[in-house]
Amino acid sequence: MAPSYEITEHTYDVVVVGAGGAGLRATLGMGASGFKTACITKVFPTRSHTVAAQGGVAASLGNMEEDNWRWHMYDTVKGSDWLGDQDAIEYMCSNAKPAIYELEHYGVPFSRRADGKIYQRPFGGHMSNFGEAPVQRTCAAADRTGHAILHTLYQQCLKHNAEFFVEYIALDLIMDPDGTCRGVIAWNLDDGSIHCFRAQTTVLATGGWGRSYFSCTSAHTCTGDGNGMVARAGLPLQDMEFVQFHPTGIYGAGCLITEGSRGEGGYLSNSEGERFMERYAPTAKDLASRDVVSRAITVEIREGRGVGPKNDHINLHLEHLGAELLHQQLPGITETARIFAGVDATKEPIPVLPTVHYNMGGIPTNYMGEVLRPTDDDPDAVCPGLMAIGEAACVSVHGANRLGANSLLDIVVFGRAAALRTAELFTPGASHKPSPTGYADAALERFDGLRHASGSLKTAEIRSDMQRTMQDNAAVFRTQEVLEQGCKEISRVADSMADIHVSDHSLIWNSDLVETLELDNLLASSLPTLYAAEARKESRGAHAREDFPDRDDENWMKHSLAWVDDKNKVTLDYRPVHAYTLTDKIDYIEPKARVY
Ligand code: FUM
Repeated sequence: MAPSYEITEHTYDVVVVGAGGAGLRATLGMGASGFKTACITKVFPTRSHTVAAQGGVAASLGNMEEDNWRWHMYDTVKGSDWLGDQDAIEYMCSNAKPAIYELEHYGVPFSRRADGKIYQRPFGGHMSNFGEAPVQRTCAAADRTGHAILHTLYQQCLKHNAEFFVEYIALDLIMDPDGTCRGVIAWNLDDGSIHCFRAQTTVLATGGWGRSYFSCTSAHTCTGDGNGMVARAGLPLQDMEFVQFHPTGIYGAGCLITEGSRGEGGYLSNSEGERFMERYAPTAKDLASRDVVSRAITVEIREGRGVGPKNDHINLHLEHLGAELLHQQLPGITETARIFAGVDATKEPIPVLPTVHYNMGGIPTNYMGEVLRPTDDDPDAVCPGLMAIGEAACVSVHGANRLGANSLLDIVVFGRAAALRTAELFTPGASHKPSPTGYADAALERFDGLRHASGSLKTAEIRSDMQRTMQDNAAVFRTQEVLEQGCKEISRVADSMADIHVSDHSLIWNSDLVETLELDNLLASSLPTLYAAEARKESRGAHAREDFPDRDDENWMKHSLAWVDDKNKVTLDYRPVHAYTLTDKIDYIEPKARVY
């Protein structure tokens, strides 16, 4: 029998889950179109992980030198190692300029040139003239761009009368037997109450799942909650094997040192004092794409040229840039280096190591934000009533590897796209179908089961088991043996959830239970990451197989789909990459060798 919890019912046109940049951009767009919109979020909106984004947001404004959205599109396709969907990439890059001007008009305090135009810096993989030389395309607010954008979007949401439900934990989607999503069930941490948010459209903007790993730049809240809900609703996740390692996490702490630091002229060196990136990427050097730089660092360390007493990291030099430039353009990371590495970046190098930073995979969507439920007949079929945006989604604009500064762009472009599509599909104030019978039973059964779990393993024990497994078995370089071992291990870890112990059974401010729900969601992402990685017998973007070092377009230029069932079994299938553009403004970009 289903556990009995009193449910408070809410009816909205739209419910957005998550209040990072994507969630807030969607929320304000929905409000501006007249939709009664609820945004439910587990942390206060301005504490969402977007606040940590540093270096900037890419758009071919051409403020510093000539630029063109077609060059940006070319770089993004190349960066994606031809796994990105070119219709979606065209949509994102061609909408980048208006997206930035819109942010500017909303009030984002971008850094400026002396003539008042928005300042732009170089970033990895962004080049001029179809890959010729690095270009200054990344619009920045010093090294606190995410902070500036998030606060501005929150203010705009308030202006458009969005209603926020803060410190509500989304538990599961409400799905009709016909497969339509009707809303979401959530738990209010503050008073312990359970809520049902019914909506014409539910938008998942729940971010990535960096916390599957031991060392990551992601906030503790990045636990793939939307992925877990989607998996439990019987929908697939896409391209989960593609996990980005940012080249410059602080050694030991994992905190991000922005790529903007290399954009401003910083460089990497090994124990011989060599600027080794010149060997790996003769044209772009330290501004090659992230997967390329992370692999180069890993090779340098493996071959004995790491720095420090254990030769296990690399130096990032900014000291030659001078205190004035660091103070003006990179104040945040100068402070981060002092606090987390104990170094004065104006005088000495920062010790760095590749660290998990971003998930290219996620909930499959089209470029309008609609979640896909691929069928044999239609790989692009959609799940009615459900959208996903931001890092939670796999649109796929980043394919096998995301370019830096394309994620802040992704969140504003596709947050807006989701609102535009909703306005095409729905009418504000339209009546709702009654909730399906027993609509909350499965969600509450899972919730209650975890709440009263009385096994022998603490949540933190299983979590660190998972994080070690992911760190050791799904890293920068991968082999069949290590991946097979990883699959076995992650299945064992997921099965150990049956023996979990939750000591606090209360409903109010129960952090033990929150962490357990989050761990369950993290496992729904960790399982397909390892299984899809084991299955993909090629190297592409961030998925670097030592035993299959080449990209294999004939057999593997396709998106992986992974279903995770309630017994932790992972089933894989594939859908074609969109090898076409959206308009005739640009031709399809044919695959070729990816060199920087
Ligand atoms: O390095 C950075 O500032 C990160 C930017 C990004 O991931 O887009």
